[in-house]
Amino acid sequence: MKCNRTLFVVTVMVLCFLFSCKKGSNEDQIRIGFSQAMTKDDWRRSMNNSMQLQASLYPNIVLTIQDANYEIQKQIDQIEVFIADSVDILIVSPIQSKPITPVVQKALDAGIPVLVVDRKTENQNYTAYLGADNIEVGRNAAKEIIASKAQDRVRIVEIQGMAGSSPAEERTIGFRQVIDQYDNVSIVSQIQGDWEKESIQDKFRAFLQQDGNVDYVFAHNDRMAKGAWEVARELGLEKKMSFIGVDGLNGPNGGIQMVEDGILEATVLYPTGGDEAIKFALGILNNEPVSKNNILSTTVINEVNADIMKNQFDKINEQRTAIETQLTAIHQQRELYYAQNNLLKITMALLAIILSLAIYSVYSIFAIQKKNRQLELTNKKITVQRNQIEKIAAEVKESNEAKLNFFTGLSHEFKTPLTLIMSSVESMGDNTRESGSKMMNEVELIHNNSNRLLRLINNLLDFRRVEDKNFNIRASKTNMYNFSKNIHNDFAREAKKRNIEFNVHTNNEFLELFIDRNLMDKVYFNLLSNAFKFTPDNGKIEIYIVDNTEGNDAEIHIKDNGIGIPAKEIDKVFEPFFKGSNNRKNSSGIGLHLSKQFVQLHLGEIKVTSFKGTEFIIKLFKGKTHFNEDQVINEPELDDTQLMDLSSEIVLEEPFFIEKAASEVDRFSILIIEDNRDLSFFLKSKLQSEYEIILSDGTDATERAFETIPDLILCDVNLPDKSGFEICEQLKKDLRTSHIPVVILTALENKESYLKGLQSGADLYLTKPFSFSILIQSLKSLLYNRERLRFYFTNNIYKIEQTDSFGNLEQQFVNKLNALVKENLNNDDFSVENLAESLNISRVQLYRKVKAMMGISVSDYISNFRLEKAKAMLENTSLSISEIAYANGFSSPNYFSTSFKNRFGTSPVTYRKTL
Ligand code: FRU
Repeated sequence: MKCNRTLFVVTVMVLCFLFSCKKGSNEDQIRIGFSQAMTKDDWRRSMNNSMQLQASLYPNIVLTIQDANYEIQKQIDQIEVFIADSVDILIVSPIQSKPITPVVQKALDAGIPVLVVDRKTENQNYTAYLGADNIEVGRNAAKEIIASKAQDRVRIVEIQGMAGSSPAEERTIGFRQVIDQYDNVSIVSQIQGDWEKESIQDKFRAFLQQDGNVDYVFAHNDRMAKGAWEVARELGLEKKMSFIGVDGLNGPNGGIQMVEDGILEATVLYPTGGDEAIKFALGILNNEPVSKNNILSTTVINEVNADIMKNQFDKINEQRTAIETQLTAIHQQRELYYAQNNLLKITMALLAIILSLAIYSVYSIFAIQKKNRQLELTNKKITVQRNQIEKIAAEVKESNEAKLNFFTGLSHEFKTPLTLIMSSVESMGDNTRESGSKMMNEVELIHNNSNRLLRLINNLLDFRRVEDKNFNIRASKTNMYNFSKNIHNDFAREAKKRNIEFNVHTNNEFLELFIDRNLMDKVYFNLLSNAFKFTPDNGKIEIYIVDNTEGNDAEIHIKDNGIGIPAKEIDKVFEPFFKGSNNRKNSSGIGLHLSKQFVQLHLGEIKVTSFKGTEFIIKLFKGKTHFNEDQVINEPELDDTQLMDLSSEIVLEEPFFIEKAASEVDRFSILIIEDNRDLSFFLKSKLQSEYEIILSDGTDATERAFETIPDLILCDVNLPDKSGFEICEQLKKDLRTSHIPVVILTALENKESYLKGLQSGADLYLTKPFSFSILIQSLKSLLYNRERLRFYFTNNIYKIEQTDSFGNLEQQFVNKLNALVKENLNNDDFSVENLAESLNISRVQLYRKVKAMMGISVSDYISNFRLEKAKAMLENTSLSISEIAYANGFSSPNYFSTSFKNRFGTSPVTYRKTL
């Protein structure tokens, strides 16, 4: 961080340094503003050039020249701009003296020194004046005329510069001062010009045309002198008179050349003073002592010194050119120097940056290495901490899992004693009711509370399963009115006792919905328990089943007029462990949560409103398309499977076969595989009046089954050696026992267990605690189905190949049995032993298997098979009775006739006649 700041500072410094790489700062500059009267003529141009040349000797001088082009107002404006720009010094060459005076004063007032050159201002209010003495110029011109004195009388024409300009006025004054001393010399005419020849030529021509007697023409500058000479030559008078001018410029059109050419007799040197003006300006700015009026020297150039002067001026010009060349070279050198200097500075700056970066890089490498080491350390610490956290989390999870398993196991454990309590109470209820005992109330109380306890345990277990997402819905078509009515019965007694008006209403008694009856029973139970809990005595609870005949859904409303739910808590009702602030009763807070989960498993919705009571509304889809195929099952009509209710007088209808079987000496046998001695003895005591009971604690389950070949097996799941599923699977795979219906009895109620039960080949899966009457009913149903099969077999032995009512193994067994019997149809020696041997089982096992499957002995089975075949031959062939008897293995036609009559009640001969 600190290093970053240092790098930043270095960079800023370098950038400042780079920006300082220029030719000179504004602070060192000397800004000189020069207001030039005009730049038309060579004199002014020469003045400007010498100023620029002088200024260029000083690199810090910035010279700005503004040309007023003879326009007075323009000159004033330009000076105003210089004032506004706050130039360091102002140089002015006024067009006329008077008009320029105030603006010069203004500049002075603004603190800008003013150097007046060539022409003066009116009041001499300026910092300094620089120029030749124009009075002296006038005098010199006059002296030149006097000196030549060719004639006794000299007539002069004076051609003046612009009126109002100081040189014109002063040159006249000086000229007159001398002329007036001589009587023979007179100024015959004064012609007013404006410094340019065009301004005087007409006037001079007019004068000469009147009076051509002129000896001298003194013009205030060489240009006007040349103009006068041109007019005189035009009139052929140029040789008669002499011309004197002022300025004495060098160069082809200058006064010196005119003297050399004989046009002028003389010219008075009037130096521009351009270079001196710059020097003076610097002197003023440097506060050097400067005189107010600084006079440049002047002299007369005539044919005597013209050459010399010309040579001198040429030399000066050469030197000037040389200086200019030098200056250009210096300038170029300076530019080069600046460029190289800047390049050097940039290179230095870059070097500095590179060096800083290099230092920074080295520093960074060390810093990064240090940071890396710190990070590695931190990383290690974090890894150790993470491992610790993971370990703790795993331990917590394990302990949590252990607790949950313990809790689940314990809850399952509760189920077996509850089964016993409930079944005992159930039978107590039967006995008590029959004997008209007054204990009925207590029995009911025990039964109801056991039921309540059971539902609470189920809620707890369901909560775990919902959390684990371990529910599989098994929806079956259900008449909602009957379903609701059945549950209504469970609560009817409490309603009556507490004088609560409790009814079921519907707009369609025939409405059928696909619901998981078990889950929806829990939903109803939870909602109704809630309603009963919070509805006061004499209150009202109602179930409305509303078939939305227009739409694809139906609604179940469970409505009470109890204490209701506070409005601000209504959204939380379905959250787990919710307890209303107005609820002072004990409650686990998971019933409504589970209800919502179960309704959602049906892809339905549950809502709650609370106003003068509470109303739960369950919305369910009609039809079954919203379920997967494996979620839809077939269950019997609701009326056939009504739940056991102590108060109800439902008499379970029993199949006539069972009645018959029970009354027979040869009773059905049931093998009970259960390690809980209480439960197995309880079951035995309850069932032994009707069935022959064989007990196994699970350790010898399969051996007992093979040994006894029972008619039905009742098997627990949690057994010491093998699980009930394994035992069931083993028995179902063995030909000896594969036909025996197996009922799995378990406390496990999850999807996996149910699937395992089905996979193991179990015929029925009952969860503890089970209603004893449901168990009895289930046993009877299974035995009834077996009996129906037996009935079918004994009557269709001959056609058995075509049936698929048995499982695969049974089908194979019967097919094999039939094939063997068929093969030996005409073999009257073919015995039961031969048959058992061919089927690879013992004679007794074959006997029991056939007896269990067909309800008849093996020999009867063989005999029946032969008789069925013989009967068919009587129907379909024209063979004689004795031929048919021998063909089907009967030792004589008489024996065949007797057997046929015993089986079908009529003799073969009579039977054929009836065809
Ligand atoms: C140049 C000039 C000169 C003259 C001077 C007077 O513009 O006309 O010829 O000597 O100005 O200011």
